[in-house]
Amino acid sequence: MIRKLFSYFIPINIYKKNSAISQSLEVTWNNGELVLDSKSTNYSYGSLQRILRKGLKYIGFKRIRGFESILILGVAGGSVIKTLVDEVKFKGKITGVEIDQDVISIANDYFELDKIQNLEIVIDDAFEYVLKTKLKYDLIIIDIFQDTTMPNFLFEDFFIQRINSLLNLNGFILFNTMVINKNHEERNLLYKSKFDGHYSLRMYPKVEVHNELFTIKKLQ
Ligand SMILES: C[S@@+](CC[C@H](N)C(=O)[O-])C[C@H]1O[C@@H](n2cnc3c(N)ncnc32)[C@H](O)[C@@H]1O
Repeated sequence: MIRKLFSYFIPINIYKKNSAISQSLEVTWNNGELVLDSKSTNYSYGSLQRILRKGLKYIGFKRIRGFESILILGVAGGSVIKTLVDEVKFKGKITGVEIDQDVISIANDYFELDKIQNLEIVIDDAFEYVLKTKLKYDLIIIDIFQDTTMPNFLFEDFFIQRINSLLNLNGFILFNTMVINKNHEERNLLYKSKFDGHYSLRMYPKVEVHNELFTIKKLQ
């Protein structure tokens, strides 16, 4: 495909839509790869996929294969879902919660997310979903951005406690954050301090320039 080839020289945009949540949603051929970007950052595939793949590696592909259910908060183009299905070979149930219906239409049209059998997509605010659901999960991936902004609720006690209560024993949280200034650094240290001895927390700074990952295991 000619556009893919040209994209090694310059990125080639093939779809663009204004978005209330992300300012814009853009599908672009970049270095031979089809990616989804918001106005100022990469949302899916590209660097975002590499970041979350590293997080999954820290937890361990083999361990994840043994899990039964995974919750993903923030689906966008679904790149971590592709990593789970194609690379980890995860066969259990995946639930993806995404606030923006337009993002899911793009994920289906350009990235064939609707072809994945063991995936259920819920269009909802992640905050509302974790309040309502009665299900429990072995892995919860938190990857919520509105362009480059992370909503405050992600760092508040109420949400943290709800997430913890939805996690099975020996289960993991994988939390992707962006750290651009000192305030963000302090915010992340405060977040870390909210987990006591019932959890084993690791921080992975500078996974790709501005991203800091947390893996948090719920202990027996
Ligand atoms: C970085 S992208 C997610 C990338 C995705 N995890 C992947 O693997 O490709 C961030 C997503 O969070 C979504 N989002 C923002 N606020 C949200 C909220 N309150 N609830 C659910 N999704 C939200 C955005 O619409 C966007 O699609």
